[in-house]
Amino acid sequence: MAKGDYIVSLDIGTSKVRAIIGEPAGNGINVIGVGSASGEGIRHGSIVDIDLTVESIREAVDHAERMVGIQIHSAYVGVSGNHIHLQNSHGVVAVSSPDREIGDEDVERVLQQARVVALPPEREIIDVVAKEFVVDGLRGITDPRGMLGVRLEVEAYLITGSRTAIHNVVRCVEKAGIEVANLVLLPLAASTVALSSDERNLGVALVDVGAGATSVSLFERGALVGTSIIPMGGDYVTHDIAICLRTNTAAAEQIKVRHGCALVEAASDNERFKVPRIGSNQEVEYTQYDLATIIEPRMQEIFSLVRKEIEKMGYSNDLPSGFVLHGGLVSMQGAGELAAAELGGPVRIAVPEFLGVRDPSFVNGVGMITYALRSAQRMSHAESVNHMRPVKTGGGVFARLKDWFRDFI
Ligand SMILES: Nc1ncnc2c1ncn2[C@@H]1O[C@H](COP(=O)(O)OP(=O)(O)OP(=O)(O)O)[C@@H](O)[C@H]1O
Ligand SMILES: [Mg+2]
Repeated sequence: MAKGDYIVSLDIGTSKVRAIIGEPAGNGINVIGVGSASGEGIRHGSIVDIDLTVESIREAVDHAERMVGIQIHSAYVGVSGNHIHLQNSHGVVAVSSPDREIGDEDVERVLQQARVVALPPEREIIDVVAKEFVVDGLRGITDPRGMLGVRLEVEAYLITGSRTAIHNVVRCVEKAGIEVANLVLLPLAASTVALSSDERNLGVALVDVGAGATSVSLFERGALVGTSIIPMGGDYVTHDIAICLRTNTAAAEQIKVRHGCALVEAASDNERFKVPRIGSNQEVEYTQYDLATIIEPRMQEIFSLVRKEIEKMGYSNDLPSGFVLHGGLVSMQGAGELAAAELGGPVRIAVPEFLGVRDPSFVNGVGMITYALRSAQRMSHAESVNHMRPVKTGGGVFARLKDWFRDFI
């Protein structure tokens, strides 16, 4: 991928739609543009109003475009939600080249094979991810290219989603004038910036605490083994504050972000602020301690639901790398400590290491760019080896990526 080829990601969240523009730099990426807009058309991470969502996407994209001075035609779009299922799949092919050296084409064919499963009509394949390759019975191979063999197998998992939910996301992005370069499962994308390969191998839970939903994903032996959504997040905390302090939602949200503390014992009695009372011109003074007594029980509830979700997936206290948190709500003072107490294991908060996006709520957006770049690098390798594949000209990197993904997925 050459300099000047941009990768754009769209994270369509309950509170915010975020557009990020990345540019390949050395072995990684540079984030060169960020745009965000409040999302009114999304509830608990699902699109409930197409027109409002289209407006938010357009606004976020406009911001990012203005920052960089380019026009965005195409973007990677994140998907998540309870409609996502993972299912195991297997593919097997005979190695095609006469010298029996496994090439990109063989890998491509075996992944295609793994896609051939009977699916109900309301479900669609989003991605196929290789867990391991098997060459002539030898297991545990992560990249078989360049090896010699006769029989190539793949143990993969298929990521499928509800056709309607996927259609809604694609429709909103296209109505905003943006082509969908590819759909990316958010926890997979986030894992590329939030997790080390050690963590992914030993066993770790990646937890995204957003505004409308909390997603819990488990990784083990390098692969995603489960993902699930709890329809509860920062909006519940805001709602609790609005009810208890008898104020409006906008004021409650602002107070939460400015003064919120997740731990009563760490909250200060000296940090004071005024809160407008709903239905009057009155303002009432509260302390951070008062606020923490409202926030702590709800945050405890969220993390205890996370723990239960992990237990349902068959893991309890046996996650050697513990828990890695991201999403806007974990920016709150004391959130990490509260999570550690509730989850009963080591907790770390993930933040992207790029200027302008050093915030746990940008992990998904930046992750999609890293994920797309890795796929693009595989693609350029495939193109340089596979002379049979016609390389399109004029369509730019996105057209080429899309072709490649269409072949793979
Ligand atoms: N500094 C902060 N302190 C406390 N809460 C914060 C802070 N920054 C953001 N939040 C909260 O984080 C939430 C937004 O997180 P995020 O941007 O990850 O959600 P989203 O992607 O829009 O929603 P979802 O993923 O649930 O669809 C909101 O509830 C917001 O109030
Ligand atoms: Mg989110």
